[in-house]
Amino acid sequence: MRIVTSVSGMQRLAKQWRGHGVGVACVPTMGYLHGGHLSLVREARRRVGRAGKVVVTIYVNPTQFGPQEDLSHYPRDFTSDCRLCRAAEVDVIFAPSDQEMYPGNAESRFSTYVVEEQLSQGLEGAARPTHFRGVTTVVAKLFNCVLPEVAVFGAKDWQQAAVVKRMVANLNFPLKIVVAPTVRERAGLALSSRNRYLDAAQRAQATILHHAIQRAQAAVKRQAQSAAQLKADLKKFITTAPLARLDYVEFFDPETLAPVTKVFCGAHIAIAVFFGKTRLIDNGRL
Ligand code: PAF
Repeated sequence: MRIVTSVSGMQRLAKQWRGHGVGVACVPTMGYLHGGHLSLVREARRRVGRAGKVVVTIYVNPTQFGPQEDLSHYPRDFTSDCRLCRAAEVDVIFAPSDQEMYPGNAESRFSTYVVEEQLSQGLEGAARPTHFRGVTTVVAKLFNCVLPEVAVFGAKDWQQAAVVKRMVANLNFPLKIVVAPTVRERAGLALSSRNRYLDAAQRAQATILHHAIQRAQAAVKRQAQSAAQLKADLKKFITTAPLARLDYVEFFDPETLAPVTKVFCGAHIAIAVFFGKTRLIDNGRL
């Protein structure tokens, strides 16, 4: 496994692979890897086979964090990430520095952003106004470094995957976006790097997100529901976890992300809940 830290080094390697017709799959991450990321790596390998190359990018992207968010405390463990990637037979880790990604020098001052203007507006975009601009910008940059034919994203960040898919379609990036299922702990908590911020009591109660999704699924299976009523029911349900503070629960069309007023089977639910300062998100198909 190689570790590449410069943009020019990654592009050189990617062009060599392209020249030899080698397929490349990219798994963009912010590191602190867990089982959810490793499932994306397995999906990436399935897509390109043994003859292809799997590149995991590890970069905590400052432009997707708001001023009050957890950038400086975001968990990092590059040694463990390397060990996990080696064991998962990743070919290359691309781990650029901030200076490499957003150089501050006069001749290449960073002043160009990629903005998706529709799917990025609601849900996480409403709660975190500059978040998706940072995500689309860095993902576009990473694609221009790795030149993948496929990139794998997790369904846990459903809106992120939808926004990136739209960007790829709108800007004609020559690659396919694959969305792999959310990986959960046995009790239902979706794997996330932010789970490590939770203390034992918060962690036990954090399964409320998954249980709320299951509750909505059961209700919609019985009959279509009014979104307002189901929202009110779930808000009350979430108060049964006293450490949870609901940020939002929304029902929407899984493709357009437009809110729905009547919730039928096939609609999607997204939930964001604070435990102390830690904000967890989850979603599911109803
Ligand atoms: O999902 C993430 O970890 C990040 O948003 C991503 C896609 C790596 C961009 O920084």
